Amino acid sequence: MSKPTPLIAGNWKMNGLAVALSEAKAVAAGLEGVSARVAICPPATLVARAAEALAGTKVAVGGQDCRAEASGAFTGDVAAEMLVDAGAALVILGHSERRAGYGETDAVVAAKVGAALRAGLEPIVCVGETLEERKAGKALEIVTGQVRGSLPAELAGKAFTVAYEPVWAIGTGLTPTTPEIEEVHRAIRATLVEQFGDQGAGVAILYGGSVKPSNAAEILHADEVGGALVGGASLKAEDFLGIIKAA
Ligand code: G3P
Repeated sequence: MSKPTPLIAGNWKMNGLAVALSEAKAVAAGLEGVSARVAICPPATLVARAAEALAGTKVAVGGQDCRAEASGAFTGDVAAEMLVDAGAALVILGHSERRAGYGETDAVVAAKVGAALRAGLEPIVCVGETLEERKAGKALEIVTGQVRGSLPAELAGKAFTVAYEPVWAIGTGLTPTTPEIEEVHRAIRATLVEQFGDQGAGVAILYGGSVKPSNAAEILHADEVGGALVGGASLKAEDFLGIIKAA
């Protein structure tokens, strides 16, 4: 199975007003010669404007979450079809900030993945252990459990990626060592192959958590790392391009 094309996705989280789209456009303008796939996932309010601003470029637009239901009385929520309608091609699901802040279980994430697929979105499904879980020697058990529970069988034959984001590395400047990243990515790979056979061998497994231009090359060239999900460093075009070019 050949290596999947790396994906470098920027998760803007709850950052960015319309003016920030100039950074997204600068990223698009700097992609000559880049073979990696590139995506930007801005807040929901900016998805349509980002899609418009990036139309015809190599930068795809994604959402940061969606509801499992297609429509209904869910004040404040966004359906997968609405993201597609706004121009999104991907969606981040199961981010630890949603698992922790909104009580999203693996079952909830799996239902959202199903909704994303039905709408035609490519899900980026996040998994990752807390520091306590790592210290207790449970990182692999937690992460592979999240992979099994969050990836429904209907992903068979569909495009998706998994993002390993250790919770303790997000926004902290801390990163696991390269062997630690590789250990978890290999365990995720084995679980994906168990679940999806040959398809699982070709799914890109992204790393996320304090990726910056200075550490991107080492992380992105680690075994079984198929790209990055970047938070803070995706907000500035110069930093994000530095990471993209390291892929
Ligand atoms: O989804 C990306 C993220 O959680 C990592 O954030 O700021 O550590 O790159 P950051």
